[in-house]
Amino acid sequence: MSRIEDLLERMTLAEKLGQLTMTASGYAVTGPVIAGDSTESIRDGTIGNLLNMIGAGPVHEMQRIAVEQSRLGIPLLIGLDIIHGHRTLFPIPLGETAVFDPATWERTAREAAREAAADGLAMTFAPMLDVSRDLRWGRTAEGPGEDTLIGVLMAHAKVRGFQGDDPSAPDALAACAKHFCAYGPVMGGREYAAVDISERTLREVHLPPFEAAVKAGVETIMPAFTDLNGIPMTMHIPLLRDYLRGDLGWDGVLVSDYNAIGELIKHGVAADLVEAATLSLKAGVDIDMMAGAYRHGLPIALERGLVTIDEIDTCVRRVLRLKERLGLFDDPYRRGRKAEKADAIRQRRELARDVGARSITMLRNQNGALPLDPPPRRLCVLGPLADAAAEMRGPWFAASEPDDPVSVLAGLRDGFPGTGIVHATGAAIDDTDETGIGDAVALCDDADAVILCLGERANMSGEAASRAYPELPGRQEALARAAIARARARGTPVIAILFSGRPLVIPWLADNADAILAAWFPGSQAGHAVADVLAGRVSPGGRTPISWPRALGQVPVFYGQRPSGRPMDPKDPYTSRYLDVANDPLYPFGHGLGYGRFTYANLRLSTDTLRECDVVQIGVDVSNEGEREAEETVFLFTRDKVACVTRPLLELRGFAKIRLDAGRTGTVEMSLAGSELRFLDAGLRGVFEPGDVEVLVGPCADRAQLLGASLRQI
Ligand code: NOJ
Repeated sequence: MSRIEDLLERMTLAEKLGQLTMTASGYAVTGPVIAGDSTESIRDGTIGNLLNMIGAGPVHEMQRIAVEQSRLGIPLLIGLDIIHGHRTLFPIPLGETAVFDPATWERTAREAAREAAADGLAMTFAPMLDVSRDLRWGRTAEGPGEDTLIGVLMAHAKVRGFQGDDPSAPDALAACAKHFCAYGPVMGGREYAAVDISERTLREVHLPPFEAAVKAGVETIMPAFTDLNGIPMTMHIPLLRDYLRGDLGWDGVLVSDYNAIGELIKHGVAADLVEAATLSLKAGVDIDMMAGAYRHGLPIALERGLVTIDEIDTCVRRVLRLKERLGLFDDPYRRGRKAEKADAIRQRRELARDVGARSITMLRNQNGALPLDPPPRRLCVLGPLADAAAEMRGPWFAASEPDDPVSVLAGLRDGFPGTGIVHATGAAIDDTDETGIGDAVALCDDADAVILCLGERANMSGEAASRAYPELPGRQEALARAAIARARARGTPVIAILFSGRPLVIPWLADNADAILAAWFPGSQAGHAVADVLAGRVSPGGRTPISWPRALGQVPVFYGQRPSGRPMDPKDPYTSRYLDVANDPLYPFGHGLGYGRFTYANLRLSTDTLRECDVVQIGVDVSNEGEREAEETVFLFTRDKVACVTRPLLELRGFAKIRLDAGRTGTVEMSLAGSELRFLDAGLRGVFEPGDVEVLVGPCADRAQLLGASLRQI
């Protein structure tokens, strides 16, 4: 008999439910703390999984109680939100997405897994794969932006990175694709609010990244807190049981979000924990995180005949199988046994610096304001995010220390050693005091360039951080206006660096700063990454993975909108438009400048007809007409001109990178398979339809900047 079946035969009901329970934990000076409970529950087998324990010592201490002191000795599964690094932080996911490089996405996840596993952990609650087209939603910071294909590629890269080839390896973690599904379109962009979207949008936009995670072998999935068209995801039988387990044949572990089973009561679909637990169990949710609903509710549900012991056993089996796949039965201390070598830690920090710099997205650069090369004699650095190391971590920081990140100021002092740097905060991130602005901007007078470090506090994005006014908070715009006025009078360039977990609505700044960098939250090496870009040692490589609106009223504004029957025509008022703002975003998806200047020519296709089974090769010549070496990100879109249903105005099919010296021309080759052009017809069946398709290639999703060629689907 297998180990798992043998255990199942010997387990009491309480021990079984313990395996389906995950509880928050921590380590105080007095010893371990288990939320609302004690280590006794690990000893008696009624808590089988923990979250949030940090440090190999505490993790192993907990593991020892489970393995050596509980009746059956089943190891604990211990997880943490290792979202973009564990102790060393890489850029937040939205920032990292801007790098547009799946190999990098995988590498940072691999490094995060190594570092977390060295702390004894075996699971991360990542990657977050929620496509977000509403920047009010704070969790936009944690995801892959507005595009589904990017979500798909991110899913693959992150699952591979966290889990490696063998999830039982001492440096591998179980990944958790979350939040399944369609958490991004919460109403009004308000966190935890209801979701109401069409079946088409669900299937075309929100499900594919999760399908990709399943294909990549993801071990666990977390249902979203939210409801979808009236059914809370934590009890969603059609999607959890029929789609994930049925259609996709996935047999991994479903772990609820924090107290989400209990929240079925507030959703108004369960009267009490017994009903809530019943609903989740029936949908196949295996682990109850923090609701205590399975532990306390399922014994009663069983007695009342609402659930069967077979249903419970099925979940227990899946949890035990996961522990087995993670190698926890064979050696529960395999992770965290060996401390990491200093060299590995050093290399990881270098990677964080490199990815941090490459994630920085240059939105604007007038008259060559950047790079600051040769280095200026004097630099004036203003703003509340200049000397704000802890903020550089972003909304999730795992086991990192608040004072560990390199602040912008520290990075600039290191990166511009011969430059005199003066600094003042000028205004706080988020209060109404303007009294510091006058003195601060006076410092601009003697500077050769002014750097404004503006944006959000780290906790103004992420979970529970929706914003109805996603602008520069507090009096930061007043600071920017005063600094720009003062500097302009002397012809001094002003460079604004924005730190945020979302695009910000910055119409005034966009017209008035000489240069704007979206730095997102770059992580541990923030200051060095910023200095590398400002100094021109690295050409900014970021391309925005989400459109920046001109006005909040445009939201959702994203490149993949479907056409209107009355497309905007400036001469015709009865067309699709606003009275008070343009339709297009301020910065489109994919926008980002570098220190090169690229032009595109000679788009060519290997064929002008395409069957579903064919692949077309697409070539384009790219020239760097700028004065510095740089890397360009080349995007490939299609547009299905006539179809049986309306198709998006642009659909991303891929992207490629090319690095060119100044004055050089190179060729970018990409391919497009006919099967990628399948779409859902009126009955939501996948079809490949004959007809014309435009192939469009260029630097971003702005149609005017794309070269086009025609292809006939046959
Ligand atoms: C709630 C969040 O929604 C989820 O993303 C996270 O993994 C859990 N809390 C655990 O911290």
